[in-house]
Amino acid sequence: MKKAAIIMMVLSGICFLPACFPQIYHISQSPETWTVARKKCRSKYTDLATIETKQDVLKIRTLTKTLSYVWIGLHADTESWRWSLENQNYFNAQEAGFRMWDDGEPSGSEYYKICVKLQNNGKWTVQLCETPAPLFCYNEGTSSFIYVNLNKTWKDAQSYCREHYTDLASVRNQSENEQLKNMLNSASAWIGLYRNSWKWSDGSAYLLDNWAPKNPSSLIKNTCAGSFSGKWYNVDCNDYWNYVCYSEF
Ligand SMILES: *[C@@H]1O[C@H](CO)[C@@H](O)[C@H](O)[C@H]1NC(C)=O
Ligand SMILES: *[C@@H]1O[C@H](CO)[C@@H](O)[C@H](O)[C@H]1NC(C)=O
Repeated sequence: MKKAAIIMMVLSGICFLPACFPQIYHISQSPETWTVARKKCRSKYTDLATIETKQDVLKIRTLTKTLSYVWIGLHADTESWRWSLENQNYFNAQEAGFRMWDDGEPSGSEYYKICVKLQNNGKWTVQLCETPAPLFCYNEGTSSFIYVNLNKTWKDAQSYCREHYTDLASVRNQSENEQLKNMLNSASAWIGLYRNSWKWSDGSAYLLDNWAPKNPSSLIKNTCAGSFSGKWYNVDCNDYWNYVCYSEF
């Protein structure tokens, strides 16, 4: 659908994708877990509902008015790890993908949001981002790492590093990892690696932020998105809810 729509847009030059090729939403009123709901949507229609515009939000809201949560196609992306440092020129080929996971890591795949610490054996481990710990910053001016012996959540650690230096430390290879390990004087400290993202079941870009206040919660394991009253909540994927599928026009 996407490719056809883009060609149409180019040819006609007048209509935008959602208006040209609206998704048709179908509500299924037989509660299922998120995974089973997806399987059923894919066999009967295209996929679980993808919501890309405010207009889509309204459509779903109207369709599901009398219902509690309904599953939509949004679920935790447990694959995509990122460095806090945004300057990608900092990394040569392969360096952004350098990892020093300890045995059994990365664990925590049951949480959508998770952050990474370097431990005093030099190996990396994942931890809930809200846990206070010391941190490693990076200073671009002097190309050096700084160990900061304060207890901060990962987010506060990031703010601290961005305010006083450049960012949280990225680790590009074994020798940088060794450098950090030698600077550490506690059990472990935050580095810049984290995971915090969502993806649509059909692979569409995750652009619209339509979460209810205080959502998504980082404390819910195995989490998928349910829509209720036009807003998104992250709930346990194994809960049973009605669901919304879509088909292409
Ligand atoms: C950080 O927290 C730990 C455990 O709560 C505590 O033992 C340590 O003294 C704290 N360090 C600093 C620098 O506040
Ligand atoms: C580690 O990476 C830095 C930055 O690319 C590079 O200057 C250094 O030579 C590398 N060290 C090793 C041992 O590969």
